[in-house]
Amino acid sequence: MTDYKQQVADTIKQAIGDGVLDDAVIFDKIERPKNSKMGDFAFPAFVLSKVFKKAPQAIAEELVGKINGDGYEKVVATGPYVNFFLSKPEYSKNVLETVLAEKGNYGQNQDGQNGNVPIDMSSPNIAKPISMGHLRSTVIGNSVANILAKNGYHPIKDNHLGDWGTQFGKLITAYLKWGNEEDVKRDPINYLVKYYVRFHKEDVDHPELDDEAREWFSKLEHGDEQAINLWKWFRSVSLEAFNQIYAKLGVSFDTYNGEAFYNDKMPEVIELLKQKHLLKESQGAQIVDLSKYDLNPALILKSDGASLYITRDIATAIYRDREYHPAMNLYVVGSEQTYYFKQLKAVLEEMGVPSAKNLHHIPFGLITVNGKKLSTRSGRIILLDEVLNDSIALAKKQIEEKNPNLPDKDKVAQEVGVGAIIFGDLKNDKMDSINFVLEEQLRFEGETGPYVQYSRVRAESILRKVPDFDPETSSRDLDDPEAWEIVKLLNDFPTIVKTACAEFEPSVIAKYSLRLAKAFNKYYAHTRILDDVAQRDARLSLVKSVSIVLKESLRLLGVKSPDEM
Ligand code: ARG
Repeated sequence: MTDYKQQVADTIKQAIGDGVLDDAVIFDKIERPKNSKMGDFAFPAFVLSKVFKKAPQAIAEELVGKINGDGYEKVVATGPYVNFFLSKPEYSKNVLETVLAEKGNYGQNQDGQNGNVPIDMSSPNIAKPISMGHLRSTVIGNSVANILAKNGYHPIKDNHLGDWGTQFGKLITAYLKWGNEEDVKRDPINYLVKYYVRFHKEDVDHPELDDEAREWFSKLEHGDEQAINLWKWFRSVSLEAFNQIYAKLGVSFDTYNGEAFYNDKMPEVIELLKQKHLLKESQGAQIVDLSKYDLNPALILKSDGASLYITRDIATAIYRDREYHPAMNLYVVGSEQTYYFKQLKAVLEEMGVPSAKNLHHIPFGLITVNGKKLSTRSGRIILLDEVLNDSIALAKKQIEEKNPNLPDKDKVAQEVGVGAIIFGDLKNDKMDSINFVLEEQLRFEGETGPYVQYSRVRAESILRKVPDFDPETSSRDLDDPEAWEIVKLLNDFPTIVKTACAEFEPSVIAKYSLRLAKAFNKYYAHTRILDDVAQRDARLSLVKSVSIVLKESLRLLGVKSPDEM
């Protein structure tokens, strides 16, 4: 693929002459004008006004005089800018040829050099419903993993389940007092939450419950059989429920190393901290002082010797470091834990854990559904599973109205309904708080997943009308001014893939897919694609390229692309 920006830089350099500006400076200064009337690339001549001691307008004129316009449609001076208009047929041919040859691989790069990147994602808590926050972590993490792989990294998706901690002492206490085995078997999370909520209600008047809970957690930490068996049971029934949701979302994990996995690795953490003289006693507890980082101290061991969330996270980071020698260490966790991850990173830096400097917390904002805030304690629980089911049902209804003869309606409804939720989340900057209104996310028009899916369905349906069209051999000689926006967007995709990776930001891909879908729909509405005999084949090459890149964009987001809907 010709690098057109480089070509423009070379042209400028020839016109300026050697030794005036560094190649890299020239390259960096070249802009992509927002308004296509100003060309495809522009060079700001005021960069040279000091050197040549002339007005930039005059310099722009002079440069244009020296430029041999071969390979361009035209090169003109507009005020202080030199504007380059690429030769559309040549450029189009080049872009279509690349997309059609590389297909789903288009945009792939090797920047990551196969470096391992553990991604801590989803990580719901056992015995509690998976929340919309966990959904965001799941879908953002999954997409970040896809984007990393597209950039040549080797992502490792790890579900750091919240399956350890003092709350399990409370849960065991509550279950033994008020629990019922049959209920838990029938509807595990619902009943486990009930016991937990009841514990918190009753311990207000019965503080001795807390002592019992502490006792049970201590038994758990020391391997007491009854405690361990109950904990295992709670864990497995919870995981079953979580896995149903993951299956629906189409997300899988490489490892499920929850907090409990690190339980036996805790003594080493304490030992290491001691060796580095980092542990300090404070009111019977063990802390690491972080005043040097302008942070509150990290509490490592409670006065009763119990480990904490951060203790387990330190063990986790050390484990990942040894196991993977990570190029980066990612944690996709809500922004309410931002301060916590600063502390974690600081402790790891103090300990000299090599990958601490590559630790990135990828935070995200709050989500509300139909205006309601989600919380597992207040009782106003909106189960994620319900949201997904509602979305699938709504999608089905729409499909039945629009396309009653579609085969496999249930499968498509699943892909559209789930895709709408994933896309509705990922199109926003991660940090934006979003209110999710299901009906809006499911519209076939507007900034939605179904809109992008539907655009590709349109492309595929045109292609189906011409059964003898073969994208392997079809003409790429597109000479169609109406298609120019699309061609340029197609050419942007590899850069978009890089930006999304550098920013850990799936919305870069989602927004791009909306732009491409919009440009394509405009084209579709204004151009009778199949009518022009001379251009038909090349136009179908364009349509196929759009379909490829839309599908690949959706794949990076973790959204399926049905061929019909
Ligand atoms: N289980 C935690 C929660 O629901 C998230 C865990 C995030 N990962 C981590 N390594 N701390 O809040």
